[in-house]
Amino acid sequence: MFTTSAATRSIRTPLRHSGTRSESTALHFYQNRQLELYASKAAKRLTLRQLVFFGRSMDKDRLIKSANYVRTELPVRIAHRLRDLQALPYVVVTQEGVAKVYELYWSAFEQFRRYPPVTTLAENNAFCSFLAEKLNEHATVIPSLSLGLSLSSPYLPPDRLDSFMRRMLVSRISRRVLAEHHIALSEIYAGTHKESSAEPHVGIIFTGLNVKQSVEKCVRLLRARPFGVEDHYGGGVRVTRWPEVTIDGHLDTKFAYIREHLEYIVFELLKNSMRATVVKHHDSPSLPAIQATIASGENDIGIRISDQGGGLHTPKSQIKIPSDLFSFSHVRNATRMDNSRLGVLRSVSSRPEGIRATVGEQVGRWQIDQGSLTDHEIEHDSGDPEKEAGVGPHPRIGIGLPMSNIFAKYFGGSLELVSLDGWGTDVYLRLPKLGTNLEGIEV
Ligand code: COI
Repeated sequence: MFTTSAATRSIRTPLRHSGTRSESTALHFYQNRQLELYASKAAKRLTLRQLVFFGRSMDKDRLIKSANYVRTELPVRIAHRLRDLQALPYVVVTQEGVAKVYELYWSAFEQFRRYPPVTTLAENNAFCSFLAEKLNEHATVIPSLSLGLSLSSPYLPPDRLDSFMRRMLVSRISRRVLAEHHIALSEIYAGTHKESSAEPHVGIIFTGLNVKQSVEKCVRLLRARPFGVEDHYGGGVRVTRWPEVTIDGHLDTKFAYIREHLEYIVFELLKNSMRATVVKHHDSPSLPAIQATIASGENDIGIRISDQGGGLHTPKSQIKIPSDLFSFSHVRNATRMDNSRLGVLRSVSSRPEGIRATVGEQVGRWQIDQGSLTDHEIEHDSGDPEKEAGVGPHPRIGIGLPMSNIFAKYFGGSLELVSLDGWGTDVYLRLPKLGTNLEGIEV
């Protein structure tokens, strides 16, 4: 049964107050007035090109302007999402995971709203430390939301659940882009930026991003993963090798993009293809290679990833593309309620620091921050395939594909899947080359 009546209840604020009841009521009304004020403002959306042009010739005044844009823009974007959370049925907001995110957002909203204007470089340094702290504090938002919405799935119609989740994720990406870009610009200006890549970049945007190199990096990281047992409809398939990936097409393609976004998507797509291939061909003497083709069009760059992993429609799974694949609702995707998945989400959302420490920088910080890698995928590092093969199945938490779709669309790209049932899957990723599209409307 879905609960449709939503926000007729009064808006609640979670911030604790130890004073008298009338003081607490006054504070409650004051905080809600502030929220209304910010939520009524439109987000000032940007294009990739604006982010690059603004950051290209940095000086003190521009850096301070950037700081104050981030300082005033983030609470507006957070306020929109707080209103979204408040519009959910009460039973959803109180779910484990959702409640945690609601509290985190309220606290961040209050802190940004009260943050004084940045006027000097020293104040900007302090602001960057504050931003870094918030980025870290919010590292568990995606697994927490994913857990909370899975638990809430019986109370929300699938369209409503999915559109809510999409807005939450798009907006989160946007806020993290603004915060991370500003931190990177500040570090580059101060000469303390740690980016070791020789590729040219402005803040977090790589202006000549080499697509082949990014694909190769993802392949390298994925193939270096320890072997184990891949989950297959509740059973397990022992993995003792990973398939090769061949790259062809326009191999010298370069474009301006956020490298971590491109690599997040490619990593997830290749991860799915590798898994499907090892599962389908586990008793064959050799594994068919995965093909990654890069194309540089006039307006977009395209990447097609083709595998021979059997396709998406098997007798046991009649998934609709893309609505079911990208859905967070158990109505469209029954695996959302799997106990093993919920258990992994619980553990990922409660201890991001432990996970980070285990993986280090190597496997891609983004995959971890977005919660797409499970404990099993990252903790088996003995390097001994036989030993690894003895562990339980890799539970899949199903965040990678919906997140990749959202990353692809963020600046106006797309992600399409075509299943050749019984044979394999082709995935088409398209990303805009010119950087002139605004961030998604839902920031
Ligand atoms: C998030 O990661 O959800 C954020 O909102 C980060 C932002 C506060 C810097």
